[in-house]
Amino acid sequence: MRTRKLSPALGIELTGIDVARCSDDQFTALRQQWNDAGGLAVIRNQQLTPQSQTDFSRRFGPLFGEDDQFQDTVLPYLMPGYPTIYRVSNKKSSDGNALGRARAGSYWHSDVSFRERPAMASLLYAIEIPGVGGDTQFASQTAAYNALSPAMQKMLAPLNTVHDFRVAASTSGSYSAADINTSDFDGTNSCLHPLVITHPETGQPALFINPGFTSHIDGFEAAESTALLNFLYAHTQQPEFIYRHVWRPGDLVIWDNRSTMHLAIQDYNEDRYLHRSTVIADRPSR
Ligand code: SIN
Repeated sequence: MRTRKLSPALGIELTGIDVARCSDDQFTALRQQWNDAGGLAVIRNQQLTPQSQTDFSRRFGPLFGEDDQFQDTVLPYLMPGYPTIYRVSNKKSSDGNALGRARAGSYWHSDVSFRERPAMASLLYAIEIPGVGGDTQFASQTAAYNALSPAMQKMLAPLNTVHDFRVAASTSGSYSAADINTSDFDGTNSCLHPLVITHPETGQPALFINPGFTSHIDGFEAAESTALLNFLYAHTQQPEFIYRHVWRPGDLVIWDNRSTMHLAIQDYNEDRYLHRSTVIADRPSR
C-alpha cells in the first residue's frame, strides 16, 4: 500500500490496495492511516459490487440499512436488494425514475448527526463522475477545534446542541417539500449531542456541530445560539481546514463523521452516480 498526504489538515491517498480482498493486517493498517489522516482516506482504483462494498464497510462496524434504518426520506434511493447501499445520483432511468438522490449533501453536514447513534464512517464509491465538477469538500473539525483559543475551548466544553433532521429538510435547498417523508419528524431524528466530542479511537477533541442538522445550542437564547454557531461554522470553513476532492471513477472515499463535515458541490449537469454505505457510531461523548 502506498500513501500520499492530500492536505495539511486532513486526508490521505492510498494506492496499491484492493479493499474487496484485503487481509486483516491490511485492514488494520488502512484504518490506522485513516485515523492518522484526520478521518479521510481516498482509495484509488477500486472495483466494488454492492455486496463487496457492504462486506468491506461492515469491517468498520454495524451498518445503516442493516443494524438501524436510514430516515424514511432516503428509502426510495436505496439500491433494490441492497438496503445498505444509498445511491447518490442525478441520473434517471429511461422511464423517468430517479436512480439515486440528486443534490444529496449539498450543504455542510456530518451524516445522520440527528440520531443518538449517528454515522461513524461513510464510504462513497464513485462509478460515474462528470468530466469537470461534482467535487466534494471535507472540513476537519479537529483542526478547527485545535485552532480555537484555550478560552473559547473552555467555554464550549460543557455545551450541548440539538441536532434535528428538520433543519436540513426545511433550510438546506437540498430537499424539496416533495422529497420529504414527514414520518421523519416523529422525534427519532432529533437528539442532543455534546458540542465538543472526544474521538473514541484517536482521543482527539473535535467540534461536533454542522449547519445541515444542528438546530441550536441547548439552553441559549436563539440569538446567542445563532451567533456562536455561525462563528464556529465560518471558522471551520476556512480554507486551511478543508480538502476538496476531485473524483475519479473507481475512487472509494472514506470519511469519519466524528471528525469531519462535508459538502457536495452542485456545479454540474453531466451524469454523476455513486454508492454510499454508512457505518453506525457509538453515541458521541466528551
Ligand atoms: C453525501 O453527503 O453523502 C454525498 C456526498 C457527495 O455526493 O459527494
